Amino acid sequence: MKDQLNAIKIRAEKELSQVTAVQELENIRVKYLGKKGELTSVLRGMGALTAEERPAIGQLANGVRAFLESRIEETKRKLVRHERSLLLQKEAIDVTIPGKSRALGHRHPLSMVMNEIEEVFLGMGYEIAEGPEVELDYYNFEALNIPKNHPSRDVQDTFYVDDNIVLRTHTSPVQIRVMESKKPPIKVICPGRTYRSDEVDATHSPIFHQVEGLVVDKGITMGDLIGTLQVFAKSLFGEKTKVRLRPHHFPFTEPSAEVDVSCWVCGGTGCRVCKNEGWIEILGSGMVHPKVLEVCGIDPEVYSGFAFGLGVERVALGKFNIDDSRLFYENDIRFLKQF
Ligand code: DAH
Repeated sequence: MKDQLNAIKIRAEKELSQVTAVQELENIRVKYLGKKGELTSVLRGMGALTAEERPAIGQLANGVRAFLESRIEETKRKLVRHERSLLLQKEAIDVTIPGKSRALGHRHPLSMVMNEIEEVFLGMGYEIAEGPEVELDYYNFEALNIPKNHPSRDVQDTFYVDDNIVLRTHTSPVQIRVMESKKPPIKVICPGRTYRSDEVDATHSPIFHQVEGLVVDKGITMGDLIGTLQVFAKSLFGEKTKVRLRPHHFPFTEPSAEVDVSCWVCGGTGCRVCKNEGWIEILGSGMVHPKVLEVCGIDPEVYSGFAFGLGVERVALGKFNIDDSRLFYENDIRFLKQF
């Protein structure tokens, strides 16, 4: 039995020296000191010893148990200390490492141009009005004096949700919504997204942007329209910019005009950008048609107004000197980064 006890001591000691985790330590404790452990079962056999043998073996056995208990305790302390220091090393933070700098984005070039246009008109005392992109046929066409079979619906073919609901083809329906909800004096711009079922090419896209303008009050004349457009064109394209009106037809204005500005590249002498014309068309405009005022409950005998609708892409192409509006929608970061 003496040999057995010494053998247990030697074996346990060897195993303890190889332990690397606290959990293994517990396994060793159970293996030797547990209820069914090796040392425990040796001690249980002590009943078979003679009275002379018993004290010496008992002492030895207790000595082995005390030894194992204290070695297990000691090893545990060592392991815990070791594990803690590993953890501290792993979690150490080097406060001297430079921080990660986050790349800051910026507005899309179209938004930049929209904002700039808005700023100019806000500066002239205009308010901003908005309307839905999914619009009733009534607001997009009918109320603007474009009945169901009017030929000008052809150039504004769009996406129909049903017979009476369309994706708006221009921002002009917001004019009607504003005039219905508010009495003159009215002075608003309506920026927003617009839709037409056009094939995509360098100057066309099924989704594009417009800014509408509407002024209604007593005594508004074509002179007010021209003056306003001159201020606008000069702020956006520079002091030397000239404005030219060409007679045109829109069902919702009378008289109507298309408006050109002198070329922002050559100043009017003719170049590639203006196709040697010296002028570049940027918007449609006119005096609000009496029928349109009437539909909105505004007396055309008392009030008059002007309106205009401006293509944002067209202006952005000019301002940034770009020749293909598809670039605006492709979300290519190499393009967008340049603004
Ligand atoms: N809505 C027209 C279009 O998209 C542009 C336009 C022309 C707007 C004359 C107006 C206007 O307000 O008076 O082609």
